[in-house]
Amino acid sequence: MERFDAIVIGAGAAGMFCAALAGQAGCRVLLLDNGKKPGRKILMSGGGRCNFTNLYVEPAAYLSQNPHFCKSALARYTQWDFIDLVGKHGIAWHEKTLGQLFCDDSAQQIVDMLVAECEKGNVTQRLRSEVLSVTRDDQGYTLQLNGDSVQAAKLVIASGGLSMPGLGASPFGYKIAEQFGLKVLPTRAGLVPFTLHKPLLEQMQTLSGVSVPSVITAEDGTVFRENLLFTHRGLSGPAVLQISSYWQPGEFVSINLLPECDLANFLNEQREAHPNQSLKNTLAMQLPKRLVECLQQLGQIPDVSLRQLNSREQESLVELLTHWRVQPNGTEGYRTAEVTLGGVDTHELFSRTMEARNVPGLYFIGEVMDVTGWLGGYNFQWAWSSAWACAQAL
Ligand code: FDA
Repeated sequence: MERFDAIVIGAGAAGMFCAALAGQAGCRVLLLDNGKKPGRKILMSGGGRCNFTNLYVEPAAYLSQNPHFCKSALARYTQWDFIDLVGKHGIAWHEKTLGQLFCDDSAQQIVDMLVAECEKGNVTQRLRSEVLSVTRDDQGYTLQLNGDSVQAAKLVIASGGLSMPGLGASPFGYKIAEQFGLKVLPTRAGLVPFTLHKPLLEQMQTLSGVSVPSVITAEDGTVFRENLLFTHRGLSGPAVLQISSYWQPGEFVSINLLPECDLANFLNEQREAHPNQSLKNTLAMQLPKRLVECLQQLGQIPDVSLRQLNSREQESLVELLTHWRVQPNGTEGYRTAEVTLGGVDTHELFSRTMEARNVPGLYFIGEVMDVTGWLGGYNFQWAWSSAWACAQAL
């Protein structure tokens, strides 16, 4: 049976980085994955350009039942460290918006960088590998694979969450956690579009593809100011993806479709200057025409001139456009979600090393655990930071 110092399961962002660092520090590392290629999610990420980190990474940008857990790793391996590594590999990047850093060229460059780092660490990689069983004794961990068995003193689970099953996602990490007695918190799709109830969806069919700046607020008071996109299934765009991680089934979200404008003031000024102008044309100065037309067809925008618009109608219009309350039907689920909320309970792990408190030699890194970042490079930074912290301990 082949023996290694450490076996890392999952050749995604966290697993590749951890294997590379541990290998470079002198460990004999085996990196296993069930897929044909390493880093499949990285290749899909950021529209093919990989939003690999964020300039404004901070613990407040992460959801977890244990909000302090991520602090240590994020502080010890920061966005600046990863930017430095990217620079050393000659990868050009740019800030798109809100501190989000993307490759100028292609996400493939990040995968190539991680592959090169693994080669530098002499990491043995086995793709298309199914782990049939994991057992532990005083020699460490023995893994039964399709074909043979391998053994190591340390086992790192980097198998990610449940989002995008088409890219190899599996509940493997949760099952291993449970096998060794670790608590796994309920999981749900995060950074995911909302679906809408049929009547509302049918009323808004014509809006598919319309995007507007918005401020969106969840029932717990969490607020995001980003673009909202109407789709043929419901609502999407960065504002909706962000708030979806804070939304629970049955709850409402409140949407301001005119965050840049004091609508009451604007209507008053326009009434003064152009009293005969139609309300519809006035609103079309601030909102996409298709949205105004749809709201008018739904009877939400009266077919009147500004002079005819009475104060009660104006008030309810302002309320509708700045506090539009929507109760999503649900989300598009793991099929399109960028991340999985919940997972291995971080109370079970040491925040400095990611090792299970009660199972020596067993580590969890990346998305498999209950740490989920905002949209915008935060999830990859968690993969890099948690992988780095773990690699120091291998
Ligand atoms: P990851 O999912 O990357 O890797 C897990 C690996 O384990 C996979 O290779 C999988 O095949 C393997 N595996 C699973 N089960 C296994 C088993 N039973 N046996 C062997 N191997 C197994 N984040 C961000 O910060 N910026 C961005 O731009 C994006 N964009 C983005 C786009 C899309 C479409 C998605 C789906 C997600 C993003 N994300 C993102 C989120 C980001 O991709 C995610 O948080 C990280 O990839 C998590 O890294 P991990 O290494 O933990 O898991």
